[in-house]
Parts: sequence; structure tokens; C-alpha cells
Amino acid sequence: KQPLNIVKMKKMKVEGVPLSMLTAYDYPSARLAEEAGIDLILVGDSLGNVVLGYDTTLPVTIDDMVYHTRSVTRGAQHTFIVADMPFMTYHGSIDESLRGVRRLMQEGRAQAVKMEGGLEICATVAAVVAAGVPVLGHIGLTPQSVNMIGGYRIQGKDAKDAQRLMDEAKALEAAGAFGIVLELVTEEVAEAISKAVSIPTIGIGAGRYCDGQVLVYHDLLRYASPYREKRFVKTYADIGNQIREGISQYVREVKERSFPDESHVFTADEIVLESLYGA
Ligand code: KIV
Ligand code: NA
Repeated sequence: KQPLNIVKMKKMKVEGVPLSMLTAYDYPSARLAEEAGIDLILVGDSLGNVVLGYDTTLPVTIDDMVYHTRSVTRGAQHTFIVADMPFMTYHGSIDESLRGVRRLMQEGRAQAVKMEGGLEICATVAAVVAAGVPVLGHIGLTPQSVNMIGGYRIQGKDAKDAQRLMDEAKALEAAGAFGIVLELVTEEVAEAISKAVSIPTIGIGAGRYCDGQVLVYHDLLRYASPYREKRFVKTYADIGNQIREGISQYVREVKERSFPDESHVFTADEIVLESLYGA
């Protein structure tokens, strides 16, 4: 399979072919997403919530992102991978922003980075793009600004807010972003933005008319623990319960000494194959 690139993505928008995007945070999740045929993988800073157990994305560091991005890119070597720039790593000097971007690209081996925000980050977006790094924008509900927004609420509800989102989308396009994530935006506003820009929009809780869709791995698979129901998510599998049931059966069988049984034990005349331990 030929990996996707930003030129093809734009062409897909023109042809009306939707982009499928999913987050991944480590080798197995990336590998399974690639095997399932996903178009793009996002190493989201949502890893703070679903993998590291924080209640916001704010504690996630550039070191966390580099570490996780590196394992994702090892697991999905033929998929276009975008890595999130974490909280407060792209609001100081351009130099500082570029240092973080370099680490995600060179150490993490991502193909692109994502940044939350509108007009205030456009100069940084342009500088990163000028350095040869594709940038995915992210507007609407931007979780890194939760303390400014005052909660996780729907964006674009009144005309003024809708206009602000439209202006931000156009400014990001002009700054050179290759696409824009629209998070928790009303369907009407997301549709208008998708029509107004030539770069693909990728929605999450932003309705049916975006050029692509993105979901969080743990939401799609009901893997997060504790699992929180979100109306914009469709769960396609119930992995969390399967894992819990599997582990509790293991615990039960160890306690009652039914595992291991005679099929799992070795005798002196057997040779353990090295391949038992490889990947
Ligand atoms: O971190 C993340 O998972 C994201 C998506 C929700 C777009 O930014
Ligand atoms: Na994110």
C-alpha cells in the first residue's frame, strides 16, 4: 500500500473521497490501525487522558509525545502519521516551537504535526511549513485551552462564533496548513468551513459534511477505563470489557489451579524454541 501524502489528501477532497483518521499511542494500536486500512494516524495528546490517566491534556510533555510517536511510527511504517504538539510548546518563540517540531519529526519520525488554535498561531504554522513540515490545524473545541473555554462545550453556536471559526480556518489555510481538525463544532458551521477552504477538514463531533473523520482509539473500541459515553462517538467494539473478562478468568483459573494445565508445562526432554519469545 502506498502511503498517503498531503498532495493526495487535497485531491481526495476534490474527488469527494473521505479521509479516515484514528489516534494511536503505541506499537500495537498503530499496527492494528494500519492493518485495518486507516488513512491517517494521529498521535494525539489525548494520550494524556486515555493512556496516562490525567484528566486533561495539559500535563503531556514533548518528551511524552516523542516517546509515543516513536512507538507508533514503528508500528505503522506505511501510514501517514501526525503528532500533536503538546500544551505550551508552540506559543513562545518560533525557535522554541521549531525545536519541538524537529523532535517529533526526527526522533518520533512523524510525517506532520498538529497544533491547536487560530490566528494567534498562524505565524508559527507558516514558519513550520517553511521548514518543510506539514501542519494540521485544529479549531473549535481545543482541549489545551479548556481553562480559557471553561469546559468542553460545542463551538460555533452563534453567528459571531461561527464567523470566528470561519476566519480561523481561512487564516490557517493561508498560513499553509494542509488540513484542519474541527472538534465539537455545529454541523452547519463545519459544513460551511469545509466548503470555504480548499484543504480537507477532519471532523470529530462536527457532523456529516467534513472531508474526513477522526476518533480516539479508546473511544471507538470502548477501551478507556473508566469509559465515558460521548454522543459523537460510535463504538465499534467493546474491547475494555473483553480485556476485563479475560483477566478475571485468568485470575480465577490461577486461584483454582486450573491454569496452567498439562498442555502448558515443560518436561526435561523438550526444547523451548527461541521463536516463542520474538515479536
Ligand atoms: O488528541 C487528540 O486525540 C485529538 C483529536 C481528538 C483530534 O486532538
Ligand atoms: Na489533541
